[in-house]
Amino acid sequence: MERTFSIVKPDGVKKNVIGKVIDRYESAGFRVAGVKMAHLTRTQAEGFYAVHKERPFFGDLIEFMISGPLVLLLIEGDNAIARVRELMGATNPKEAAPGTIRADFAESIDANIVHGSDAPETAAFEISYFFNAFEQF
Ligand code: RTP
Ligand code: MG
Repeated sequence: MERTFSIVKPDGVKKNVIGKVIDRYESAGFRVAGVKMAHLTRTQAEGFYAVHKERPFFGDLIEFMISGPLVLLLIEGDNAIARVRELMGATNPKEAAPGTIRADFAESIDANIVHGSDAPETAAFEISYFFNAFEQF
């Protein structure tokens, strides 16, 4: 059993696909072990994506992530980190495999509907960044 962290980004909330994204995870056999809605502050978003702070797209990424409320998800299941990334599809939805979340719902590399942790270390950091012990079930 493994835990990973996912976000339905502001574009997903605006497009009313929160339920559809969660359904992809639940239908693949995962369990929602934590869920809440938030509208991140700039400081929270910059801390979350700190690994990207030197990248040219960092400014646009932060503006996008604070552009509206989003949904924070704690997802549990076998091989959850890698399998959630598979369900999401490639970062650029134009390159995402058919049937993935990004291929089906996302517009662009900036507005790409979902986030998912990419490794055990980032999953542990990201889960504890947003969910305290009483919010993990
Ligand atoms: P995420 O962290 O959101 O799950 O996305 P990811 O792992 O698939 O991609 P990552 O490399 O971590 O990048 C984080 C987000 O930054 C935006 N991005 N833009 N213009 C670009 O070349 C570029 N590269 C990345 C994307 O919105 C990506 O989700
Ligand atoms: Mg990433």
